[in-house]
Amino acid sequence: APALRVGLIGLGHVGLGTYRVLQRNQAAIAARAGRPVVITQVAVRRRERAAPLLAPEVRRVEVADLLRDPDIDVVVEAVGGTTLAREWVLQAIAQGKSVVTANKALLALHGDEIFAAAAARGVSVAFEGAVAVSIPIIKALRESLSANRIDWLAGIINGTSNFILSEMRDTGQDFDAVLREAQRLGYAEADPAFDVDGIDAAHKLSLLSALAFGTPLQFEQVAVQGIRDLQAQDVRQAEALGYRIKLLGVAQSLGPEANAPLSLRVQPVLLPRRHPLASVEGALNGILVHGDASGVVAYGGAGAGGEPTGAAVIADLVDLARQPPGPAAGLRVPHLAFHPEALRP
Ligand code: HSE
Repeated sequence: APALRVGLIGLGHVGLGTYRVLQRNQAAIAARAGRPVVITQVAVRRRERAAPLLAPEVRRVEVADLLRDPDIDVVVEAVGGTTLAREWVLQAIAQGKSVVTANKALLALHGDEIFAAAAARGVSVAFEGAVAVSIPIIKALRESLSANRIDWLAGIINGTSNFILSEMRDTGQDFDAVLREAQRLGYAEADPAFDVDGIDAAHKLSLLSALAFGTPLQFEQVAVQGIRDLQAQDVRQAEALGYRIKLLGVAQSLGPEANAPLSLRVQPVLLPRRHPLASVEGALNGILVHGDASGVVAYGGAGAGGEPTGAAVIADLVDLARQPPGPAAGLRVPHLAFHPEALRP
């Protein structure tokens, strides 16, 4: 079968993680996808910096050329931010290309516009890597749990802040030192205030709640409090009392009816040490979902990092590669398109 030809925009932690995992596991990925998945073109701001990282057969191109090249089937957006990323994603869709992105800020703010454009054009926008990277929570809410009425979900969905809280407790280091370490390890956002002020978790929570409750995106409705004011001493005192401080995102339906109001919040909470989310440490994420039929379901795995995010991006590419190529491809698997219709129960 012909290869799925991927154009990658951006070669930061996510772009490079995607490229490296795809190179390393090429054969297994092709076997699972039913055809090769190949990054044929890469667009980066500083081309000279990318040169030594990429195999010689990968073309370095300008974004505009990549977006209108008929030889590109799918665009991976790994630039981050919400301005250029929005423009480029919309341009890719207008060109009839499906898009894979792990950009939660972009989708939380402009998702309704982007998914509507994709639905109108019959292409997919896939984003498994946008929330709790290694946890297949988007698939879970859309597929495995689709028989349930979801009552609530609660999770540790920011790896950086969880890493900071774990390290402050274990090493007694202060907030700033641990944050620098999280940046060095590639966990933190370009602006780490998004992590420590709860905004990144709120972006992710708004995506999860839209999927769980079949609503439009409601980022503005999330009540947000971060962890910036916590000190090592607070973390250790909680521990001495048998608790752990965790930054949680919680989405809860406030009534049994389908259109009941939602409570959406991100805040540090004290969890008893035996609570299932209390043992989620470091840059891991953990999510609990309560469905009326399935009961509580627990998920865990890496929440940040280049290669875990790259693996989630590639999983979306494998899904796309399994579709028969051609203009109708997006329409044949409507569950991949996160458009308003797909969200209604
Ligand atoms: N900065 C994010 C986090 C990256 O720490 O969770 C993954 O979305």
